[in-house]
Amino acid sequence: MGLYAIGDLHLHFQSECRAPMQRTERVWRNHEALFRQNCQRLLTEEDTLVLVGDHSWGKNLAQCEKDLEYIAALPGRKILLRGNHDRFWDAGKTEKLNALYAGRLSFLQGNYFTYRDYALVGTKGYCFEGPFYLDRRGKVMGWDEEAEAKAEKIIRRELLRLRDSFEAARRDGHNRFLMFLHYPPTSILERRSAFTDLAEEYGAHQVIYAHSHGETRFHNSIEGNFRSIEYTLVSGDCLRWVPHRVV
Ligand SMILES: [Fe+2]
Ligand SMILES: [Fe+2]
Repeated sequence: MGLYAIGDLHLHFQSECRAPMQRTERVWRNHEALFRQNCQRLLTEEDTLVLVGDHSWGKNLAQCEKDLEYIAALPGRKILLRGNHDRFWDAGKTEKLNALYAGRLSFLQGNYFTYRDYALVGTKGYCFEGPFYLDRRGKVMGWDEEAEAKAEKIIRRELLRLRDSFEAARRDGHNRFLMFLHYPPTSILERRSAFTDLAEEYGAHQVIYAHSHGETRFHNSIEGNFRSIEYTLVSGDCLRWVPHRVV
């Protein structure tokens, strides 16, 4: 019995793929078939797989049904987190999704799930991704303040959502946490953030995140042990479609 995680499947069985990288880069070629094979090889029905956001390119639930069916057919229990591209999933309608896919898929937002004695908590998260203004040597000289203000607003909302998830688990007596974010916990300019502070406040054992695609972005945030918490990037292309064993 194991807990695994991976993010950013970006499925498009019924919709148009909107990332040029996904059409051209080798790592994305037949990634749906390769990932399914890897899951069938590694996971059993006793295992749990957390899918850390960006499941589908579909613009609404009707355009995501086949993508969600593909995920539902993978071995084990599947828990999904919201990514920035998951337009089918309105945060306020998470209960409806949980009812619709009861017994097949679980949607993590404002609630929590358990794995052994761990509470699995999480939210999409957010970090400021620019635009940054660089000098000729690539040094950051400034950034778009309007974009930064927008980012701060999203970050405040996401922190409340994450706290809701921790508190829901704590009310039920849980004190061992694994924290999931879709976005990296810090921007490329930060060493720590309000998300890493929250992970520390609740004593999370691990922080698992995704969203960063392509070799040049795999090391944009915290990796490994930082202030006694283990941080791991699990975007699918980074893992070459092999689910990461968390516990
Ligand atoms: Fe993504
Ligand atoms: Fe993303």
